[in-house]
Amino acid sequence: MKSIVILISGRGSNMEAIVRAAIPGARIAAVISNRPTAGGLAFAASHSIATEVVDHTAFADRAAFDTALAEAIDRHTPDLVVLAGFMRVLTADFVRHYEGRLINIHPSLLPSFTGLHTHRRALEAGVRVHGTTVHFVTAELDCGPIIIQAVVPVMDGDDEAALAARVLVQEHRIFPQAVRWIVEGRVSVVDGVARVAGASMPAGLISPLPEDA
Ligand code: GRF
Repeated sequence: MKSIVILISGRGSNMEAIVRAAIPGARIAAVISNRPTAGGLAFAASHSIATEVVDHTAFADRAAFDTALAEAIDRHTPDLVVLAGFMRVLTADFVRHYEGRLINIHPSLLPSFTGLHTHRRALEAGVRVHGTTVHFVTAELDCGPIIIQAVVPVMDGDDEAALAARVLVQEHRIFPQAVRWIVEGRVSVVDGVARVAGASMPAGLISPLPEDA
């Protein structure tokens, strides 16, 4: 049985999607938040998952917070650590400690739109397709090997909320899929590129584009 620790900062809908997927061979050992007010904590607790808060505001600096966070995580001896809307930049030491077993979901088609406000920036750039990416975490922000991506169209009249909602539907599909592949031992990284053994599509899902007008 693979032990998984999920880190959240807020709503936790991606964490919820992973829990609801009930992936065979995986056990969600704990959900840890850096914010005491994170809405997702209640969902986890109601599903008998251990919850914990490591409040970043209680620490003098990033390194001290990351050390405490790693201690809380490692008490669960995780095979996989999942960043599900975890809104803190992690130190290189932390990332190195979990190398190869730390994954993140980012709401854009990486390597486009790393960082924050991805939906607003996609609209401002006038891209016709947007999406989401699950990737291994490396020291450089939003840059690690890509495990799976999903594409959505950008529609005329979209605002940030509409585009975010369309992307979120896909996040809830691809994140459990990535976790499942990793639990099944099918994901490998060679020369910085992730491969999925036996995936029916090359590590990605393409959503249908709207019909021609
Ligand atoms: C998601 O859009 C995720 O891609 C981003 O933050 C959001 C978190 O949403 N990193 P939730 O907390 O999983 O509902």
